[in-house]
Amino acid sequence: MKLIKATDYKDMSKKAASIFAAQITLKPNCVLGLATGSTPLGTYAQLINWYNDGDLDFSQVKTVNLDEYVGLDGNNNQSYRYFMNDKLFNHVNIDKANTNVPNGKATDKQAECDRYEALIKALGGIDVQLLGIGNNGHIGFNEPNKYFDKGTHEVNLTESTITANARFFATMDEVPKTAISMGVQTIMQAKKIVLIANGPAKADIIYETCFGPITPDVPASALQLHPDVTVIVDEEAYATVAKKLGK
Ligand code: PGA
Repeated sequence: MKLIKATDYKDMSKKAASIFAAQITLKPNCVLGLATGSTPLGTYAQLINWYNDGDLDFSQVKTVNLDEYVGLDGNNNQSYRYFMNDKLFNHVNIDKANTNVPNGKATDKQAECDRYEALIKALGGIDVQLLGIGNNGHIGFNEPNKYFDKGTHEVNLTESTITANARFFATMDEVPKTAISMGVQTIMQAKKIVLIANGPAKADIIYETCFGPITPDVPASALQLHPDVTVIVDEEAYATVAKKLGK
């Protein structure tokens, strides 16, 4: 595991984006694993800037996203498909047919999970996977558990996630109760992984992820076993590492 300390959010985003830009340059038809959330926004903005400058070509790039809410279609502005279109795909020359997000409207959820897992394999696997991290160490929708979640699966959202999302919907019935997410094993099969985190709320979990015991209580700790992981954090998210390791 490589841990890189960036100065601030902008620097973290630029460093992460440069790894993705290098991947696209080295292999124009690469498979990028992408993430939603607030952390990757700066990374996507930087990639869009480089595209606008004429320095990046997404025409052959393929993507697979980590997860999607069950019950939401891509036109719903709370769906992760909508997020990806809005924050990245609509602004670069990617072919939308080459972008993949689990189908939250699939009637047979297990069949959709199997299809998504098979799709990743058929694409030849993920060249670089981008990850954010939850304060509790979740990656994708893999929450702390008694075991590491394996392949793509349907996840019950926690009460706190459901409650937090309720404000975005007219009725409680519309609020997603489950999601489809790549499992920890799916993520671990990516050839290269880049995890980004910023802000003081992420400081303790970054220490646990990189230096704590490998345990499904901290799903991201599994990444210690992966041969090519780069963790990029701003100074605030590095604070507990600095305090405990004196660097
Ligand atoms: P955030 O979410 O980027 O909005 O902090 C990260 C995550 O929960 O994976």
